[in-house]
Amino acid sequence: KSKQSADTTADSSPGQGTDKHRDETPSKKKFCFKAAKEHNIPEDLNKILENKVIETVSDLYYMNMSVVEKTCLDGADGEGIVSKSVSSHSDLIPGVYEGGLKIWECTFDLIDYFSEADIQFTNKTVLDLGCGAGLLGIVALRGKAEKVHFQDYNSTVIDEITLPNAVANCINGGNRVGSKNNRKTSKPPAKRPRKAECSPDALAKCRFFSGEWSEVSQLLLSSKPFSKYDIILTSETIYNPDYYSALHDTLAQLLDKNGRVYLASKAYYFGVGGGIYLFEKFIEERNVFRTSIVKIIDKGLQRYIMEMAFKDSS
Ligand SMILES: C[S@@+](CC[C@H](N)C(=O)[O-])C[C@H]1O[C@@H](n2cnc3c(N)ncnc32)[C@H](O)[C@@H]1O
Repeated sequence: KSKQSADTTADSSPGQGTDKHRDETPSKKKFCFKAAKEHNIPEDLNKILENKVIETVSDLYYMNMSVVEKTCLDGADGEGIVSKSVSSHSDLIPGVYEGGLKIWECTFDLIDYFSEADIQFTNKTVLDLGCGAGLLGIVALRGKAEKVHFQDYNSTVIDEITLPNAVANCINGGNRVGSKNNRKTSKPPAKRPRKAECSPDALAKCRFFSGEWSEVSQLLLSSKPFSKYDIILTSETIYNPDYYSALHDTLAQLLDKNGRVYLASKAYYFGVGGGIYLFEKFIEERNVFRTSIVKIIDKGLQRYIMEMAFKDSS
């Protein structure tokens, strides 16, 4: 299955309902931001993939979203984000659901960029910030990162999508460990993962967090020992200007002094108002990071890859 036709791919700006919700949600001060939580990896890896259908995109395994949606509607979604997203016809409900159930197209831009620019993950500590499906972190894991942490706003996304995706990519080329019961792969994976394949051991390098950025940042900083990240990856996370301050401070608090952020974004997010220029301006004003646009994808609405580093870094 090609990445363009992946049925979970959100290939445009937020859904129709976004404007409506934004109108009904006057200011970020009224949002009830989600507390941070670490999600432990269950011991029984088979259970994580139970009732899931595995598909492939860009040589990576991911959970079929229609099936996840169904199990969520049947009760697996403690946050109720699937029903809220369906009933509001929206991929983003500020402060409630932040879009992690879909794979957004800039994820693939960043994955392509890693190969083109030969970005090295070997022995690096990596954070996939606003991870959704977590494909960026999984690519880093395959690239022999020392550790990879995944963060999403929604705990349902981590439990039902990110964690299963990491497991599927780590265990034996996406095949279920042990029993074949309930195995519902829609078709055998078309290709085996290229390069270094993940192993169950790779899963031990992963940690998973949900919650709002400032909250997760506090949780990480208070965990001892905490070491800052060499690389922070983040795709389609700058759509809402209300979150820029929290995002900026999180990056500033969690990035190693000589670390790099690779950020992918569309030029502009209709209905929400954020975009690459506004974020660039925000970063400039804060005067903490230097930025450079390292790639422009000029198909329809322009998309960008930005590299960020501390102003005083080497
Ligand atoms: C549009 S989704 C993109 C998901 C994924 N990176 C991709 O490219 O497919 C935006 C992600 O940013 C995260 N996010 C957005 N605002 C956030 C906030 N204020 N605090 C924590 N996470 C946030 C959400 O978890 C969500 O998954």
